[in-house]
Amino acid sequence: MKKPSSVPLSRLKQPLALDFQATTPCEREVLEAMEPFWYEFWGNASSSQNRYGLCSAAAVSVARDQIASFFGINSEKIIFTSGATEANNLALLGHARAMASKRGKPGHLITLQTEHHAVLQPLRQLQREGFRLTELQPSCDGLLSLDQLADAFEDETVLVSVMGANNEIGVIQPLKEISNLCRDRGVSLHSDLVQAFGHWPLDLSSLDIDFLSLSAHKIYGPKGIGALVLDSELPLLPIQWGGGQEQGLRPGTLPVPLIVGFAKAAELALNDLNDRHFRLKQLREQLLNGLREKIPDLKINGSTDKRLSHNLNITIPGVLGHQLHQKLRPVIACSSGSTCSRGNPSHVLKALGRSADEAKASLRLSLGRYTTFDEIKTAIELISEVVLELRQD
Ligand SMILES: Cc1ncc(COP(=O)(O)O)c(C=O)c1O
Repeated sequence: MKKPSSVPLSRLKQPLALDFQATTPCEREVLEAMEPFWYEFWGNASSSQNRYGLCSAAAVSVARDQIASFFGINSEKIIFTSGATEANNLALLGHARAMASKRGKPGHLITLQTEHHAVLQPLRQLQREGFRLTELQPSCDGLLSLDQLADAFEDETVLVSVMGANNEIGVIQPLKEISNLCRDRGVSLHSDLVQAFGHWPLDLSSLDIDFLSLSAHKIYGPKGIGALVLDSELPLLPIQWGGGQEQGLRPGTLPVPLIVGFAKAAELALNDLNDRHFRLKQLREQLLNGLREKIPDLKINGSTDKRLSHNLNITIPGVLGHQLHQKLRPVIACSSGSTCSRGNPSHVLKALGRSADEAKASLRLSLGRYTTFDEIKTAIELISEVVLELRQD
């Protein structure tokens, strides 16, 4: 991978970027891979009667094959979508509704309170359509208890949705064990894999999961492209209708440059995953230890070992959340929770037992591919200075 030609943000007197779970910059090699498909090879991948279209279709086919090969599956099992929100909606609404029409009645669904809103909201829509929904509370470390999941199954349970890694606290769920419980009961399993794919060393070809959601912009790819990976022959109804692209499951003109960029970003992310995982883990430990030295009463949110290496989520007691974030904003780009929570106290931290005030006074710090040791040292200084100042006020 080429080094970015840009100067690290900290040296540009911009806020130090520690919010790489919200999104990532597009990698230069990804931009280069996409470039010809904006103007030189601009055909519609569905225009099979002309050379421009065939050229675009070939590029989509190569990208699809490449993504499928990472999972060891056939390429028809990759459905390109606009991102993970759409992939989640398609899997959850599409499969639950298909099952209801097969069974002649809605069924029961299981998820975790700490899922992303792109999972919770479609499931709550299904609840409005007559399905029953169980939202399990995780243990205080953010992990799903397998006993609790086993107890939650009912005769009518048709679908379970549990994410691979949490977008706020980075906690890794035991997907293999969850999959075993679902398999034993003949229940379908969906997993939002957005934060784990390309970041956590998963054995992708042995994941026994029926529906997986992916997004390119969390792995240094373009925004606006993702995929639903269908790992089974399970029934799935479309949630929109049109020209029949993507096997009629996701109609619409294919965004060829974004698809090419997605495959390139995935290739790069899987290539440097192990090195990045270990390097960022060390940096994250340095960040935590440095902050702990200066703010000994800080609280860590989520499991410390079953956690993405580039995530740290802490609560700072004795400070007001809005003041903490206001003071940090000019110097550090981080967040108190999910980017999609619109400033509300994090539902994830509340599910872990934090109060609304504690949730607001929390920092999600997520490291990126090019985060340096110097940036970590700067972050420790900046955060602890701000906390000290607020505590003296
Ligand atoms: C876990 C998780 N799921 C879904 C999404 C939504 O993904 P997209 O922006 O591709 O729709 C995000 C991004 O914030 C996420 O972190």
